[in-house]
Amino acid sequence: MGKKILFVASECSPFVKTGGLADVVGSLPQVLKKNEEADVRVILPLYDEIDPSWQEQMEWVASVHVPVGWRNQEANIYQLTHQDIHYYFIDNDYYFTRKGVYGYYDDGERFVFFCQGVIEALSVLDFQPDVLHGHDWQAGLAVAFAKIVNPVKDMKTVFTIHNIKYQGIIPKDGFEELFNLPPEHIGGLEWNGLLNCMKSGIFHADKITTVSPTYAEEIKTPYYGEGLHPLFSQRQDDLIGIINGVDVDEYNPMTDPHIPANYKYSRVKKKENKESLQKKLGLPIDSEIPLYVMVTRLVEQKGLHLVQTILDEFLQEDVQFVVLGTGDYEFENYCYHAAERNKDKLVSYLGFDEALARQLYAASDFFVMPSLFEPCGLSQLIALQYKTVPIVRETGGLKDTVTPFNELDGTGNGFSFSNYNAHELLHALKYSLAIYHDSDKWSTLLKNVNKSNFSWKDSAHEYANLYESLQESFSLQD
Ligand code: GLC
Repeated sequence: MGKKILFVASECSPFVKTGGLADVVGSLPQVLKKNEEADVRVILPLYDEIDPSWQEQMEWVASVHVPVGWRNQEANIYQLTHQDIHYYFIDNDYYFTRKGVYGYYDDGERFVFFCQGVIEALSVLDFQPDVLHGHDWQAGLAVAFAKIVNPVKDMKTVFTIHNIKYQGIIPKDGFEELFNLPPEHIGGLEWNGLLNCMKSGIFHADKITTVSPTYAEEIKTPYYGEGLHPLFSQRQDDLIGIINGVDVDEYNPMTDPHIPANYKYSRVKKKENKESLQKKLGLPIDSEIPLYVMVTRLVEQKGLHLVQTILDEFLQEDVQFVVLGTGDYEFENYCYHAAERNKDKLVSYLGFDEALARQLYAASDFFVMPSLFEPCGLSQLIALQYKTVPIVRETGGLKDTVTPFNELDGTGNGFSFSNYNAHELLHALKYSLAIYHDSDKWSTLLKNVNKSNFSWKDSAHEYANLYESLQESFSLQD
């Protein structure tokens, strides 16, 4: 019999999304249910941001009192079933009826409330999970409270780090203000003199996972650990990396309604998509010109400093380049002016448009993703789904999913470079161009791209094994 798992998360597609976390929380439960017979349910905050069409479908389940320090807040719990998965939502006007999702001065308090609300909900729901599985800092305290309060007999906990950079920091006096825990528990929540929600999850969870094997190694080092690396020396044996998959039904060039010409492997069809895109964006129409794209948040993590150092130089080649995304002023400004300077070669679309994103994946030859760090990364996997060659920096999940093309033995499904250095990126771009113009090598590379498979199947199985192992270790201790 499959396990009962409760995912605790701050975002989930299709209800609310700011990043890759929502994709994982939105797609992994379905695969765990289908392939592993697990009953995975998801609990989320009920943000005002969630579309009314979803809110109309929710039904009230219960209302609970949630202590937040001296405050006694009320939470209404709603539920909804979507594509066979059961979702719970915790509603409180004061904390969640606001514009957007994060970025408030009291985000710490909002997620103390949410995590405490999850624990209270467990006492009224007719669902008693075997495992509570928290995702990222916003759910770290749910893992900690579960361990301390023990709301469900024998329940185990897993904590997944999607990005260790964001930790959820609360001033230390928040311990009396917001928590209802005996003082001996402060040590499990504190790091460097502050309360740290990410640390509390890492400290309390039975098992810790992160979203790629390479990132699991990287976060043990000062360079990638964002100050938390010493924690992992004590928890080495409980930390594993499981690579994220991609939703192969959602991102499927054979059925994608946003792209002009659907295809499986056909380069002819990809060229048709390229011509349509060139027309749409006002670029010279020529299906032979190699097309490089980026679909990204325009922030430091995504390697924009490298791009802005070398893009003008690379555009002296006979290539076209399209950037789609929004983000920091510095990079938006750069992209805008670079496009002005390179009119027939570069288009910067500073906005977000899902249909255009799909058209870029479908039309392009190369997908550029030179991240400073990348716990897993989804875009390179989508690119591979659309038979587009990724060019990445060898970090985190990029290193685990893209193997550099090797001319000698014909292996590899992309291009990569090792150091966070603009000229290493430029070299990789120029090398990719040389391979593009060598038809034998190019077709070998494309065959490898066509064979790449990052569906959720294997990774969901790894999670199922992990849940299973928790239960076993419990019975052994018993
Ligand atoms: C975060 C990471 C990204 C990862 C995603 C889902 O957004 O930055 O690399 O793919 O979480 O796990």
